Amino acid sequence: MPQAELIDGKAVAASVRDEIARRSRDLLKAQGVKPGLAVVLVGEDPASQVYVRNKDKMAQAVGFHSVKHTLDAGTPEEDVLALVRALNEDPDIHGILVQLPLPAHIDESKVLRLVKPEKDVDGFHPINVGLLTAGERSAALVPCTPAGSLVLIKRTLGPDLSGKTAVVIGRSNIVGKPMASLLLQESCTVTIAHSRTRDLPDVVRAADIVVAAVGRPQMVRGDWIKDGATVIDVGINRIPAPDLGPDKTRLVGDVAFDEALGHAGAITPVPGGVGPMTIAMLMSNTLTAARRQLGLGEDIPAF
Ligand code: GUN
Repeated sequence: MPQAELIDGKAVAASVRDEIARRSRDLLKAQGVKPGLAVVLVGEDPASQVYVRNKDKMAQAVGFHSVKHTLDAGTPEEDVLALVRALNEDPDIHGILVQLPLPAHIDESKVLRLVKPEKDVDGFHPINVGLLTAGERSAALVPCTPAGSLVLIKRTLGPDLSGKTAVVIGRSNIVGKPMASLLLQESCTVTIAHSRTRDLPDVVRAADIVVAAVGRPQMVRGDWIKDGATVIDVGINRIPAPDLGPDKTRLVGDVAFDEALGHAGAITPVPGGVGPMTIAMLMSNTLTAARRQLGLGEDIPAF
């Protein structure tokens, strides 16, 4: 049985990070400006705390001005909105990220719509969603996880994806829908599959590129994968691992990895695949946002 090539997201993310750090130093030298990233965390969700800490660490590592705002879970909606308004007007801040999920008493879409589109480094504002959907990628800020997934696909298959069949499993606003838009713009023939899709195994079997983003551990089975396909596993699921000891857990993706190894041409591991790319692309978006706000050209490599 063929053994799939592993797509090393950590290594690709490190190369993106080095490139951003270099360009950030150039910007500081030429303009005296550091790209500024503000991350807002409301509440104590442990996974969100880890993500926010990692974003802050990476922002500092690439030479950005990094600000973290931690608000407690009971913070009134109006206070969160006031903070976003202040960050919108702060000239030292070029990128604003509000960590999701927000506590239930806060209207997520109200907060996301208030972020200035040019500072929306998550790419969640309807203006950025619209620009991406309309094919104006060069004017948009693109959500980080799909942007990072596309980099991994191109590193694997080369820059020209035209005519390839792609299946995106999952229709979330954060991953599935923007991923489908990006692949469509690369002239792939794109299917968006979801929980109501009939004959999902057969739909997946037709795909040269499979992006799994459903949040269901090991749902995509190895024999669903066309021989030689490129598999991008966006899922991060914690499952019990009694083989490691009582109460032990492990992280797995949405794809049954061991099975898929015998079918795929290339596959991302979990962890160490898409995850590291998300934060790297956040840095890329922040640099892009800073350059645009300073009236400079893009100067962003396609990675
Ligand atoms: N929570 C889970 N994923 C994301 C993301 O990409 N951005 C933000 N802001 N919150 C998240």
